[in-house]
Amino acid sequence: MLEVTILVVVLCASVPHISSHTANSTNSSVLERHAFFRRNESVINLDHSGLEKIKRGAFKDVRVYRLNITNNPLKAIKKGAFANVSVHEIFLYGNNISLIEPDSFHGFHPYNGSKILTLSLANNKLEVIKTGIFNNTRFSRLFFNNNKIKYIEPGAFGKMKQLTQIDLVNNRLEKIDVGVFQNLGRRSFSILLNLSKNRINYIHPYAFENTSLAVLGLENNGLDGFEENYFKNTNISSLYI
Ligand SMILES: *[C@@H]1O[C@H](CO)[C@@H](O)[C@H](O)[C@H]1NC(C)=O
Ligand SMILES: *[C@@H]1O[C@H](CO)[C@@H](O)[C@H](O)[C@H]1NC(C)=O
Ligand SMILES: *[C@@H]1O[C@H](CO)[C@@H](O)[C@H](O)[C@H]1NC(C)=O
Ligand SMILES: *[C@@H]1O[C@H](CO)[C@@H](O)[C@H](O)[C@H]1NC(C)=O
Ligand SMILES: *[C@@H]1O[C@H](CO)[C@@H](O)[C@H](O)[C@H]1NC(C)=O
Ligand SMILES: *[C@@H]1O[C@H](CO)[C@@H](O)[C@H](O)[C@H]1NC(C)=O
Ligand SMILES: *[C@@H]1O[C@H](CO)[C@@H](O)[C@H](O)[C@H]1NC(C)=O
Ligand SMILES: *[C@@H]1O[C@H](CO)[C@@H](O)[C@H](O)[C@H]1NC(C)=O
Ligand SMILES: *[C@@H]1O[C@H](CO)[C@@H](O)[C@H](O)[C@H]1NC(C)=O
Ligand SMILES: *[C@@H]1O[C@H](CO)[C@@H](O)[C@H](O)[C@H]1NC(C)=O
Ligand SMILES: *[C@@H]1O[C@H](CO)[C@@H](O)[C@H](O)[C@H]1NC(C)=O
Repeated sequence: MLEVTILVVVLCASVPHISSHTANSTNSSVLERHAFFRRNESVINLDHSGLEKIKRGAFKDVRVYRLNITNNPLKAIKKGAFANVSVHEIFLYGNNISLIEPDSFHGFHPYNGSKILTLSLANNKLEVIKTGIFNNTRFSRLFFNNNKIKYIEPGAFGKMKQLTQIDLVNNRLEKIDVGVFQNLGRRSFSILLNLSKNRINYIHPYAFENTSLAVLGLENNGLDGFEENYFKNTNISSLYI
C-alpha cells in the first residue's frame, strides 16, 4: 500500500543560476523505477518523506543541483538506484543507512565542472567504509560524521582525484592503519581530515606518509603521544589534538 502525497518544493535562494522550479516529492515508502525519470530540477527534496526503499532506476537521467534525501527510514543504498544523475550536492543524512552496495555512487556525475561538491552520509548507521564504493567517483567533500564506523578498508578513498575534505567526526574508529589514506595520493591541493571524537588509540607510524593531508583533526581520542615518524613525508601543516 502506497500513500503518495505531493509536496511542492520552493526553490532555495542558495541554489544559484537556475530559474525558479518546483519539484514533486513523494511521501511513499517505496520510490519506484523511473520515479524521477529525466527530471531537470534545481532541488529534489525528499526530507522526512517516510522513504524506506529506492528501487533500481528510480533516479535515471536526472539533472538536479541539490538532491536532498534526508531523515527517512532508509536502511540501504543499492546499486542502480541512481543512474546517470548529474548533481552538485547530495544529502543523504539521517537515514539509518547501514549498507551501501558497491557501485551505488557510480551513477552520479558532476552537474557542472569536474567535481560533485558534497556527499553527506552523516547521521546514519554505517559501520564500515568499504573499498570500491568510491572508486573513481568525483566527490570533493565527504561527510560521515555521527555514524558507527569502526573500520575503513585500505584503499577505500582510492582514486578520488577531487577529494578535499573527509569528516569522520564522532565514530568508533580505534586504529588507523597504513594504506587507508595513502591512496588519496599526492595532488596539487590539500586535504582536510577530521577524525575527532573517535576511540583512536593507535596510529600506524606511516599512516599519513605520502598523502596530501594538510589539516588533521584528532581531538577527543585516546591517543597518548606521537612519534616523529607520523609526519614524515607528509604536508600536514595543522594538527589538532
Ligand atoms: C507533480 O505531480 C502532479 C501530479 O502527479 C503532476 O500533475 C505535475 O505535473 C507534477 N509536477 C512536476 C513539476 O513534475
Ligand atoms: C534544465 O533546466 C535549465 C533551467 O530551466 C535549462 O537551462 C537547461 O537547459 C535544462 N537542461 C536540460 C538537459 O534539459
Ligand atoms: C533538506 O530539506 C529540508 C526540508 O526542506 C531542509 O530543511 C534542509 O535544509 C534541506 N537540506 C539541505 C542540505 O538542503
Ligand atoms: C511523510 O510521512 C512521514 C511518516 O508517515 C511523516 O512523518 C512526514 O511528516 C511526512 N512528510 C511529508 C513531507 O508529508
Ligand atoms: C543522461 O541523462 C541526460 C538527461 O539528463 C540525457 O540527455 C543523456 O542522454 C543521458 N546519458 C546517457 C548516457 O544515457
Ligand atoms: C532510525 O532507527 C531508529 C531505531 O532503530 C528509529 O528510532 C528512528 O526513528 C529511525 N530514523 C528514521 C529517520 O527513520
Ligand atoms: C557552472 O560552471 C561555470 C563555470 O565554472 C560557472 O560560471 C557557473 O556559475 C556554474 N553554474 C552553477 C549552477 O554552478
Ligand atoms: C576499486 O579499486 C580497487 C583498487 O584499485 C580495486 O582493487 C577494486 O576492485 C575496485 N573495486 C570496484 C568495485 O571497482
Ligand atoms: C612512500 O613513498 C616511498 C617512495 O615511493 C615508498 O618507499 C614508501 O613505501 C611509501 N610509504 C607508504 C606508507 O606507502
Ligand atoms: C608536499 O608539497 C610539495 C610542494 O607542493 C610537493 O612537492 C610534495 O610532493 C608534497 N608531498 C606530499 C607527500 O604530498
Ligand atoms: C573537527 O570537528 C570537530 C567537531 O565538529 C570540531 O570541533 C573541530 O574543530 C574539527 N577539527 C578540525 C581540525 O577541523
